[in-house]
Amino acid sequence: MDAEKLTAGIEAAARRAGAIMLSASDIERKTSEKEGHGNFVTEYDKKIQAFLFDALREVLPEANFLGEEDGAGNFREEYRKGYLFVIDPIDGTANFLSGFRPSVTSIALLKDGEPYIGVVYDPYDDLMFTAQRGKGAFRNGERIHSLERDLAHSLVDFGTAPYYPELQDLTFALARRYMNLAMDIRHAGTAAWDLCLMAQGSIGIFYELKLEVWDFAAGALIAEEAGCRVTDAAGLPLTYDRKTSVMAASAGVAREGCYLPADVLGINVKN
Ligand code: IPD
Repeated sequence: MDAEKLTAGIEAAARRAGAIMLSASDIERKTSEKEGHGNFVTEYDKKIQAFLFDALREVLPEANFLGEEDGAGNFREEYRKGYLFVIDPIDGTANFLSGFRPSVTSIALLKDGEPYIGVVYDPYDDLMFTAQRGKGAFRNGERIHSLERDLAHSLVDFGTAPYYPELQDLTFALARRYMNLAMDIRHAGTAAWDLCLMAQGSIGIFYELKLEVWDFAAGALIAEEAGCRVTDAAGLPLTYDRKTSVMAASAGVAREGCYLPADVLGINVKN
């Protein structure tokens, strides 16, 4: 099947997932805790994931699935070949159960281990971000581009890596440093959305020191296709088979250089 048809099928599924998100009620009662600080899952995460597995199986029957809520959540060797859907049914679950917007559905289709199609949908504002490898990034069908400004005239957005207490000092030391170097600091609470903010040119840098593949796979492709430079925190290419740090720089910031933790704090961050 060609990439256009696949993207249309994935978009349709994401839209229906968004409708489930919007239908949510009594979320608190339908929430349970997972391992780690502030890590929750709601009945809606599970319901949307189950829906997406079924809907996307119809789009591409031969694909494998890796989803945040499937219990195992581990990358398997067989995923390196062929198609793999990587799904976060609700990215920004803490936002979702706090009424803090947005939370989004994130779907990446990997082909032979690399992102091929990325779709991120915010149902609250009906914003559909899409990208196909090599074909540019789009928001509701309109082409979007990375920011061209330098760091001093850009916002920096970061994720707190909330489930990894050992990363907090470095996370906030970096935020403190960027606070001086950039226009101001933001924190949105959904990594997939953070990367779409990069793609639409709202942000100069996004970083988070540990993310799961389903948090960033779709957003990273969308940001790259919009002209951002997306790497890990050491500036190395992202990996899609394990947790990793993620560091995205707009075209303007990447051109300027000297924005990685090693440059601004003198600390080399290893995954
Ligand atoms: C989380 C969000 C959040 C990030 C966490 C992720 P979830 O995903 O992307 O912004 O800080 O690291 O786990 O758990 O809401 O799907």
